[in-house]
Amino acid sequence: MMVNILPVALLPVLTLLTGVSPLKPEEIYVKTGEMVVLHCPHSTKHNHNDNNNVVWTSYTTQEMYVINNKSAGQKQMLIAGRSLVILIASVNHEGNYSCSVGNASSQFRLTVYNTQSTENEERNKYSKTCYAPESCTLSCPEVNIPDVNTLNMTSNPITWHRQGDSSSKDSYFSSVEKEDHGVYTCTRSYQFQGQLYNMTFTVILDVQPQKKSGKPMILSPYKSDVFYVDLGSTVVIDCKAVVHSDFDEVFWLSDTSFVETNDSFPIFYNYTMEDNNVGIDVTASLVFKKVSEEDLSRRYTCKLESASELSSFVTVTLASKVCPLPLLLALGIVGILVVVIIAVVYAKFKIHIALFIRDNLGCHSSTSDRKNYDAFLMCYGNETDAGLNEDNRQWLKSVLEEKFGYCLCLYNRKIIPGKAEAQAVLDCIEQSQKVVLVPTTPDCGLGSDVLNDIHLTLVQRQSHLVFIKTEKTKVPSSGSVPEALKLLGETDFVTWKGSSSMIHTSSFFKELRYYLPAPQHPTKTRLLPREATHYDNC
Ligand SMILES: *[C@@H]1O[C@H](CO)[C@@H](O)[C@H](O)[C@H]1NC(C)=O
Ligand SMILES: *[C@@H]1O[C@H](CO)[C@@H](O)[C@H](O)[C@H]1NC(C)=O
Ligand SMILES: *[C@@H]1O[C@H](CO)[C@@H](O)[C@H](O)[C@H]1NC(C)=O
Ligand SMILES: *[C@@H]1O[C@H](CO)[C@@H](O)[C@H](O)[C@H]1NC(C)=O
Ligand SMILES: *[C@@H]1O[C@H](CO)[C@@H](O)[C@H](O)[C@H]1NC(C)=O
Ligand SMILES: *[C@@H]1O[C@H](CO)[C@@H](O)[C@H](O)[C@H]1NC(C)=O
Ligand SMILES: *[C@@H]1O[C@H](CO)[C@@H](O)[C@H](O)[C@H]1NC(C)=O
Repeated sequence: MMVNILPVALLPVLTLLTGVSPLKPEEIYVKTGEMVVLHCPHSTKHNHNDNNNVVWTSYTTQEMYVINNKSAGQKQMLIAGRSLVILIASVNHEGNYSCSVGNASSQFRLTVYNTQSTENEERNKYSKTCYAPESCTLSCPEVNIPDVNTLNMTSNPITWHRQGDSSSKDSYFSSVEKEDHGVYTCTRSYQFQGQLYNMTFTVILDVQPQKKSGKPMILSPYKSDVFYVDLGSTVVIDCKAVVHSDFDEVFWLSDTSFVETNDSFPIFYNYTMEDNNVGIDVTASLVFKKVSEEDLSRRYTCKLESASELSSFVTVTLASKVCPLPLLLALGIVGILVVVIIAVVYAKFKIHIALFIRDNLGCHSSTSDRKNYDAFLMCYGNETDAGLNEDNRQWLKSVLEEKFGYCLCLYNRKIIPGKAEAQAVLDCIEQSQKVVLVPTTPDCGLGSDVLNDIHLTLVQRQSHLVFIKTEKTKVPSSGSVPEALKLLGETDFVTWKGSSSMIHTSSFFKELRYYLPAPQHPTKTRLLPREATHYDNC
């Protein structure tokens, strides 16, 4: 028995396109006086050379006819192979054309316009984009141009002009500049049977800044590289970069490992691409479904990897909103500094500030217990000869009373017939808000018995003392009047610096006034007649 192996006949499976007749005619625009060529497309059905079987038909407003060599010649047209060449287009050529080979045909719609028709002119404009300062070559469009070989035509070199400039231009820019932006015209001209036939095209050169992929950047609302987030919340960080090639990639890294794009992971990224004129905007969004403690310890990097340029990246970290420690710390330090500065300034200028407020704003510390005198100037003996003499004391008294309006109780004034010396001093102490101890040279001669008496009163009354010391008084020696008085109540010290303290703007006066209360401005009419002698200066 024989086994016959039959050859399997392979049927050629050629799906032939049956005469494609596009529903829409091909639109062709030509300027009056120029050449235009209509090419009859090849039908795939007829593989054999059927160039001579092409039938052109013209449908113009006037007539419809089959174009042959004779009729073509009359209308400055010619048939060459599959092409219909209109050598010098005129309005008479405007209309519809069709070419047919067998039962396949193609339609054309020819519009002839003059240079005044800006609308049609627009249709014949071509554009070219170049990037400064790269090189750039303008190319003249090869649209509806003749096949020089079939036609036995000679084509002349293409010439270029810039709009508004009659001199011819080169189509090649070794380094294009922004200034080269503009409208250019190229002219193709063909020599045929002793005649020159022309075709012009308009090319608009657009010069753009050099293509550069932008460094990736984080989009708002986050601008800094640390993001404060709530643990457990969903966080999306958008990173945007401009790319120019399909080979450029934008992606996210978590520390050094790639973040997944699969959204079933707790952290993933997805991206969008949007074409703009300059490049492609890529936005890669890093998504944390639920921010965890662990996520805060990582660095997240959005990286642009480019085939043509160095790669670039931007890095961010997450921090918990609950404890923006650095911020709190910074605020704390600033706060402490401010307090310290205020304290230092106040300590240094408190006297000036208090006096300024007192003098200018009329703010006085109100004293609840009304006393008849602001102060009692009480003298004490000074061992050195640096104390205030009689003249100095008189002068101090007059400045305080006349310049500053104080109401003073003076020991000398208090010697009233019938009153003991000690009682007179005690009266003064009781009636005055402050007791000012004035060192005197020579000793003003307050008896020790007087001092013993007033001692007790001072303790009982908790009297406020202002102790004027001389520069030579270092520590009041024991047993002296100041030593005894120093132990009583609150004591403020003011230093007498001799003649330099005698100006009313001196620091001596400033300090003294600071420790004294504001003048009470008592009114004399209020005073009882019996006591009038006591307040003769108030
Ligand atoms: C050319 O064809 C279009 C339809 O494509 C038609 O509207 C128009 O009237 C035709 N023009 C002439 C001159 O036959
Ligand atoms: C038309 O002229 C071409 C050459 O120019 C020639 O090949 C063709 O046979 C001519 N056709 C007719 C119908 O005369
Ligand atoms: C084209 O004509 C051929 C015969 O010449 C015929 O076989 C074919 O079916 C026709 N095609 C169409 C689309 O009419
Ligand atoms: C082509 O044109 C040249 C002159 O322009 C002529 O000498 C030559 O014979 C022509 N060739 C054909 C095939 O017509
Ligand atoms: C083509 O251009 C040349 C030079 O500009 C000119 O001499 C010639 O007449 C033009 N041809 C036609 C058909 O307008
Ligand atoms: C995403 O990951 C899940 C689980 O890891 C897996 O089942 C799924 O197939 C992944 N999807 C894609 C598109 O890779
Ligand atoms: C990316 O994923 C997030 C979260 O699933 C979603 O809200 C967003 O619409 C996604 N964006 C794109 C461009 O797919």
